[in-house]
Amino acid sequence: MDHFALKDGVLYAEDVPLPRIAEEVGTPVYVYSRATLERHARVFSEALASLGDPLIAFAVKSNPNLAVLNVLQKQGFGADVVSGGELRRALAAGIAPDKIVFSGVGKTRAELQLGLDERIGQFNIESREEGYELAEIAASRGIEAQACLRVNPDVDAKTHAKISTGKAENKFGVPLMRARETFAELAALEGMNLRGVAIHIGSQLADLEPLETAFAKVGALVADLRAAGHPITHVDLGGGLGVPYRKGEVLPSPAEYGAMVARATAGWDVKLIFEPGRVIAGNAGVLLTRVVRMKRGGNGPPFVIVDAAMNDLARPALYGAWHDFEAVAPSGERMTANIVGPICETGDTFATDRECDALVSGDLAVFRTAGAYGATMASSYNSRGFVAEVLVDDDRFAVVADRIDAGAIMDAERVPDWLL
Ligand code: LLP
Repeated sequence: MDHFALKDGVLYAEDVPLPRIAEEVGTPVYVYSRATLERHARVFSEALASLGDPLIAFAVKSNPNLAVLNVLQKQGFGADVVSGGELRRALAAGIAPDKIVFSGVGKTRAELQLGLDERIGQFNIESREEGYELAEIAASRGIEAQACLRVNPDVDAKTHAKISTGKAENKFGVPLMRARETFAELAALEGMNLRGVAIHIGSQLADLEPLETAFAKVGALVADLRAAGHPITHVDLGGGLGVPYRKGEVLPSPAEYGAMVARATAGWDVKLIFEPGRVIAGNAGVLLTRVVRMKRGGNGPPFVIVDAAMNDLARPALYGAWHDFEAVAPSGERMTANIVGPICETGDTFATDRECDALVSGDLAVFRTAGAYGATMASSYNSRGFVAEVLVDDDRFAVVADRIDAGAIMDAERVPDWLL
C-alpha cells in the first residue's frame, strides 16, 4: 500500500499532483511520500509488537535523506549505519545514539573511534581483527564497546548474487564454525562488552524459509554460547524483507515475517534488533522523469528516451532490476517499448520490450518503488549532476535534497599550476 495514485487521470503523491513537482523542481526528481513511510514504519512495528520491545534500526543505506530519517525517527526507529557518514546523518536526524547500530565489514579506525565517541548503542563486529581493534580503542578511553558478533550462517538467501550476504563465500561476518572460539576470545578483552550475535543474509528476500533456517542456526549458537557461560542479551536479525516491484507480485508481508520471527525466536529471552531498509522506504518513493523524445527502433520496439538515467537509478543497470514504469497522465493506450536514459552506454536501459502506457515526447512518467537504493546510489556519470529529492506531506511538498548540477561538481576540481 502506498500513497501514489491517479486522481482525475493524473498521478498524485498524496494530495500533490506530480506535474506540479516537475514544473517547480524539474526532472528527474525523486518524490517520497511521508504518509507511506509512516504507514510502512507502523505496519512493520506492529508486526513485531509481540516480540517484547525490539529495536527497529532503519538501514540508512537504503535511503539516507535527512528528512526521511527524521520521519522515521519520529516513529521511534533507530538507525543501522555502515559508515561514519551514515552515523553523522543518523545523529543529525535526531536519532538517539543508543538506537544506532554500526554494521559493515570495513569500518576504519576513525569510524570505530567516532562510534565510541558518540556512545552508539551497538557495534556489529564482522571479524576477530575488528574486535581486537575496537576493544583496544575502547580500553584506551576507559570505556566499553557494546557489541554483537556478526556471524555468517552459510545460508543461500535465494536472491540476486550481488545482494546475497550470508553464504560462506561472502565477505560478511565470522563463519559459524569459528563463531564460538572468536566470541570467547573477543568477550574476554578489556574494553569489550560482547553481548550477543548478529546476522543479515541478504536483501530483497522473497522467501522466508532461508531466514528461518538462518535464525535456527543463530538460536543454536545462542544456546551454545550460554552453555559456555556467556550472558547473551541481544540478537540482531538484520533486514532483508523484499517488496513487490511488479504490480500484482506478492511477497511475504511484515505480519508473516513477524509470525515467523516469533516462532523462530521463542524462548530466546533477548532484546531483538531489526535492520529493515527496503520494506520501509521502497514503495514510499518514485523517480519522476520526462520523456526527452521517442525514437524508432532498428528491428525492435521504439525507444522511449527519458531524462533519468542509470546514474540516477542504478538498479536496472546493476542488477537487471525491474521497476514498474507508468505515465503520470495515462491516456489509456498502451505500447511496447525499450525505456532508456541518455547515458552513452547500452547498459543505460531501464526496460526492454516493456508493455507500458503510451507516451510521447514531453510526457511525464515515473519509475515506481524507487524510494530505497535509488537516490543514494546516484553518481554524476556523464557529468549529469546529482538528482533532486522531494518529500510530500498531504498537499504540501519540500525539496529535501537540492539538485547538484554538473557545474557545482566541476567547482570541486582544479587543474594544478604546473599543468598550466
Ligand atoms: N543490514 C545490513 C547489514 C545490510 O547489509 C543491509 C543491506 C540491510 C540491513 C538492509 O537490507 P534491506 O532490508 O534493505 O533488504 N543496493 C541493493 C541492495 C543492497 C543491500 C545491502 N545491504 C539493491 O538496490 O537492491
